[in-house]
Amino acid sequence: MNSTSDLIDRARQLREEMIGELRRLSALRTDRVADAFRAVPRHLFAPESPLESAYDPDRSVVVKRDTGGAATSTVSAPAIQATMLEQADIEPGTRVLEIGSGGYNAALIAELVGTRGHVVTVDIDPDVVARTRRFLDEAGYPGVRAVHADAEHGVPHEAPFDRIIVTVGAWDIPPTWWNQLVEDGLMVLPLRLRGLTRSVSLRKVDGALVDRDHHQAGFVAIQGAGAHDEVFVPLAGDEVGLRVDDAPPADPAALAAALARPRVEQWSGVEIAGTEPFDGLDLYLATHTAHFGILMALQSAVDRRLVSRWARWGAPTCFSDQEFAYRVTRRAGDSDRAELGVFAHGPDADALAREVTALIRTWDRDHRLADRRARITVLPAGTPDAALPAGFALTRKHTRIVVSWPGAT
Ligand SMILES: C[S@@+](CC[C@H](N)C(=O)[O-])C[C@H]1O[C@@H](n2cnc3c(N)ncnc32)[C@H](O)[C@@H]1O
Repeated sequence: MNSTSDLIDRARQLREEMIGELRRLSALRTDRVADAFRAVPRHLFAPESPLESAYDPDRSVVVKRDTGGAATSTVSAPAIQATMLEQADIEPGTRVLEIGSGGYNAALIAELVGTRGHVVTVDIDPDVVARTRRFLDEAGYPGVRAVHADAEHGVPHEAPFDRIIVTVGAWDIPPTWWNQLVEDGLMVLPLRLRGLTRSVSLRKVDGALVDRDHHQAGFVAIQGAGAHDEVFVPLAGDEVGLRVDDAPPADPAALAAALARPRVEQWSGVEIAGTEPFDGLDLYLATHTAHFGILMALQSAVDRRLVSRWARWGAPTCFSDQEFAYRVTRRAGDSDRAELGVFAHGPDADALAREVTALIRTWDRDHRLADRRARITVLPAGTPDAALPAGFALTRKHTRIVVSWPGAT
């Protein structure tokens, strides 16, 4: 590229292509949000990234890693940013708190709220706050407030907010977020549920946060007072393990021994189209089994046929004391469709595989359609069981989270 004007032209062209792709993915649904993506030069907030990849709809840009190499801060991928901004339904003139900074998403929000609105972004990492401030100024958004704090306490001196958008994987919802949101306001957050993460749009009504919709998401985990570590249970050295975020297996050695036994395969007969999402099934499995986690594996374990390739990306897994069973797919004939199935290991792998296969069939029959998907309701900790909606309840320090399935008896 020869000149600054060439760069600006190329970036503008890449933005248009990105917007087209985000629309095709249904991440972008409204012109208002599309216009915000058109207005903000994303590459100014990700200078470490080559221009083309800065505008890749599915690519995040890592800003910082911890000493073990895990990302602690990223500029999130455009696809999830678009999804969350659509979920947040931000109107001109509103007051928005963004938890987890980077600058780009805050600039998009600033476009949506306009000159009468107010945007505050907060981050626990002073380096992230410094770069956020710098990039926002350089890109022409001096009005956005960038605050350095642990968001566990919200940002009381700027509250209340009409919208709270959390851009870091949250394990719980502290009372401050709840209290700093106006009644009828929306909170959009990537909520961690038994190893799965769902970006949930919640409306605050009558002492509850009620799900408007939710989508599959992946985010770096929250740090500070609200941090919650997952447990990694090794099943074959560091090559295969189970990631568990609530009760870990009672006897990890028994599950490691299970993996050494031959696997049992069960196929459900339930097929999905090539591009059809089935994250609803994973949430169904997670909320219909006593013990649930995510099976993870290195490529070497897949190459040795210890586990299926699904474990490379994280396979939803139901486990008992001595068995575990994980969800897989295989190509259905010559079509672009795939059949859902289960691989199980352990002394009574057959029984667990049959149980999980039956759950897949029930999900297909009763909960696959959009209007029969899960609803997520969040209530304050201490809400008695009798006052909870029917469903699977998770109890956290500050909240009780209920996943309900319409029509389930
Ligand atoms: C995915 S990044 C945010 C991306 C950003 N919103 C963007 O424009 O793309 C998540 C951020 O959350 C921050 N974070 C983690 N725990 C936090 C906490 N307790 N309070 C505030 N920020 C936190 C991290 O430092 C990290 O910068």
